[in-house]
Amino acid sequence: AAFRMGFDLATYKTVRSRAWGCNPFPNVLAVHPKSADGSLTPGSAELDEGVLADTDYEQPISISNSFGVPSQSPDVWQPDMRAAIAAAGLGQVLVPSFQGSRVEGMSEEEYIADHATTARLIKETGAKLMVMNTSCPNEGHNRLLCHNPLLVGRITEAVKNEIGDIPLMVKLAYIPSDDDLELMVRSTVGHGTVQGFSTINTISAKLVDADGNQALPGAGRDRSGVCGNAIRGAGLDMVARLAAIREKLGLDFKINGVGGVVSPADYQAYRNAGADSVMSATGAMWDAELARKIKSSIK
Ligand SMILES: Cc1cc2nc3c(=O)[nH]c(=O)nc-3n(C[C@H](O)[C@H](O)[C@H](O)COP(=O)(O)O)c2cc1C
Repeated sequence: AAFRMGFDLATYKTVRSRAWGCNPFPNVLAVHPKSADGSLTPGSAELDEGVLADTDYEQPISISNSFGVPSQSPDVWQPDMRAAIAAAGLGQVLVPSFQGSRVEGMSEEEYIADHATTARLIKETGAKLMVMNTSCPNEGHNRLLCHNPLLVGRITEAVKNEIGDIPLMVKLAYIPSDDDLELMVRSTVGHGTVQGFSTINTISAKLVDADGNQALPGAGRDRSGVCGNAIRGAGLDMVARLAAIREKLGLDFKINGVGGVVSPADYQAYRNAGADSVMSATGAMWDAELARKIKSSIK
């Protein structure tokens, strides 16, 4: 459906080496930051003090994203992924996404191997490229793999050994420090294991209802990732800094900009910041015509 609606790069939502359950309903709530333009700034006090979340879905849209990266088992997602790859039209490509699953008692080596296994399962579907997700709390509650660039480097080496010439991208969350970001680039692209980055994922915030109580039900869900309009500034900042590092190091890799793209102007802003390609999740959920609107704006 995404291809038919003109989204030429369609991500196949992150899969795992095994079936993985979803967080309880609700997963999506409307999120209302305090600032006049509805933006959330990484590192700001508001993220820890609480941001209002409810069912009043205003435009431009910002939402919570609290799914827990569920996955079907490979015997379900592999044939489905094959069908999705075959659905791509001229100039379109399916972008499979995967991540490792850290389970109780797993050693670091086993965790690394789980990534390589999942990448091999994707390769078996005939994928032309793939993206490894390091931007969800796969390291435990609120802990992201992309905050450990050296481990990402080791994992991408194992993955690359498995997938050979198939281009590998890494999905990154917002990384505030330029030094950490540069280390990420050096430990991956610098070793020839990674050909691009996709960024950003959601920004973590404490979500509260109108009475100041936890908005999403259940333990460990006091915070959730926020996506949509609120995070565009952070996404543009991350893309611009990544592009500057690319220039500085003279390395060749692609940047896919994502985060808060809800209009043609947002697409252009990402391209101006240095993105080679642009994606939208929340914006596309709320407006299935978004790709068509963007394309007609650049003709
Ligand atoms: C419903 C939904 C599901 C998502 N699932 C994934 C996922 O499985 N893997 C991933 O890397 N990002 C996932 N994301 C994050 C998006 O890829 C994107 O990085 C983020 O939402 C920011 O873009 P946006 O502001 O356009 O939504 C998901 C986002 C939404 C809205």
